[in-house]
Amino acid sequence: LNLTKYVDSLPRIAKIRGYGIRHGRPVPIKLTIGMYSKTWQFHRDMPPTPVFVYGQSLQTATFPGPTIVARQGVPLAVEWQNHLPDAHILPWDPKVPTAIPKKGGVPTVVHLHGGAHPPEFDGHAFAWFTRDFAENGSTWTRKTYTYPNVQAPGNLWYHDHALGLTRVSLLAGLLAAYVIEKPELEDPMNLPCGDHDLHLVIADREFYTNGSISIDREWKPEYFGLVITVNGKAWPYLSVQRRRYRLRILNASNARYFNVTLSNGALPFTVIGSDSSYLSRPVTVSNLVLSPAEIFDVIVDFSRLPAAMTEIEMLNTAPYPFPNGPNVTDPNLDGKVMLFKVAGKGKVDDMPDKSKVPEHGVPYASVAALPPPTTTRYIVLYENQTAPGNLYINGLRLEDPVTETPKSGTTELWQVINLTGDNHPLHLHIATFQAIKMTKIEGFQVFKDCMIKNNNTATCNLDQHAVGPVVPVPEEEKTWKNAVKIPPEFMTSVVVAFRLVEANQPYPFDATTEPGFVYHCHILDHEDNAMIRPLKLLP
Ligand code: C2O
Ligand code: CU
Repeated sequence: LNLTKYVDSLPRIAKIRGYGIRHGRPVPIKLTIGMYSKTWQFHRDMPPTPVFVYGQSLQTATFPGPTIVARQGVPLAVEWQNHLPDAHILPWDPKVPTAIPKKGGVPTVVHLHGGAHPPEFDGHAFAWFTRDFAENGSTWTRKTYTYPNVQAPGNLWYHDHALGLTRVSLLAGLLAAYVIEKPELEDPMNLPCGDHDLHLVIADREFYTNGSISIDREWKPEYFGLVITVNGKAWPYLSVQRRRYRLRILNASNARYFNVTLSNGALPFTVIGSDSSYLSRPVTVSNLVLSPAEIFDVIVDFSRLPAAMTEIEMLNTAPYPFPNGPNVTDPNLDGKVMLFKVAGKGKVDDMPDKSKVPEHGVPYASVAALPPPTTTRYIVLYENQTAPGNLYINGLRLEDPVTETPKSGTTELWQVINLTGDNHPLHLHIATFQAIKMTKIEGFQVFKDCMIKNNNTATCNLDQHAVGPVVPVPEEEKTWKNAVKIPPEFMTSVVVAFRLVEANQPYPFDATTEPGFVYHCHILDHEDNAMIRPLKLLP
């Protein structure tokens, strides 16, 4: 495929309001959102691509699906309906532990990524169901999920989570954004809004010449595509005015990391939030590194562009696998993401720009203000040697007995040790967390060999290996996140809060019920096979 770049304009993703209004006040509602099989035009010159997508109807379903805009404090009920055909449009590997219905159909289950909600609404990997709920997995209990939306305002997303199919079902298109708003807190910040506030959902794909998405049947450690799509278009462009825009950038790729700039730093990003939290104060940077599932909420001020410049590109320089992979992004291909066409000076504005870059963000409970960690856990990422190629956590699989059982309401310190050559995005369900430092593991090979043999951090003298140097966490990542990057050959210290960080209080619901939660690597190929473990909260 040889596609001309910047010929399709960036689609604006449709929004669905996740609450009703009665007597001028927001009230709970119930939505019905389906998963549909249809075709999608990823580029002007490409044949239509078969996709699986979310929408309120077949006609309105899109890649990515509609953005749900919920209100803090107003619960939202969603009946997720599966209208998918008898077989998946993409091949999957039966050697990977996978949900396989007896009567056929595509198993699906929806997870609200970044959401604080009880386990029964979490989209557990075994809580899958097929078309019309004809068949379901062992932990399925209900058709309708209710999201309490009690957490801080921020950027979440929803996507499929069925056992062993996450990588192919997201690749097919079952992914979309979700926003929790809190106007009392956000309106005074005076951020760019309306037409000047948009999502950029970035995802790489590989296509056959007939338009279908290409992925090997056999499981591979990472899926990479050379076509970069944003909001469902390959290398789109967006016409902008010379004013501030709020861009909510989500890396929804399976495995590709992005290190993005705006024309090599011609304009900076002012980061106001990451994942489901704001920063406590905005941070201005020239580049942003996004792991899969990571979100940066940024302000870009196009009025600062020199008058002579009318075009600015979003570029990517991340090697893959990240950060040491043998593959270098091609500056003419996957090194390009999208183009901003900036209106000429003087032609300018539909409206004067009254937005601001706020001086302060949202003051969450700091790490120090939370109850001190009750437990320190060692979470070790490495390849399992008896099942070569498989990536495990602490040498264990999802099916092995639960070992992470924090008490609901507490905080913990997770020392995440990466013995592989790649960066892995750590994602925990329900919790929010932040990395506080990264400590280099000295005598790496000795420690790694010992761990592979003994799988025990004490036997392998972790204390004598995790001795530095210490690398600080970038300022734009210092907030309560839902995905943190775990660099190779480091021990990353992560404070995990099993409570609401904005209010600094325990969850106002029971988080300890069955079937519990999971935590995993958000490289989807790793998550499926089998860098995923159960997480069970105790009372
Ligand atoms: Cu975004 Cu368990 O996933
Ligand atoms: Cu991984």
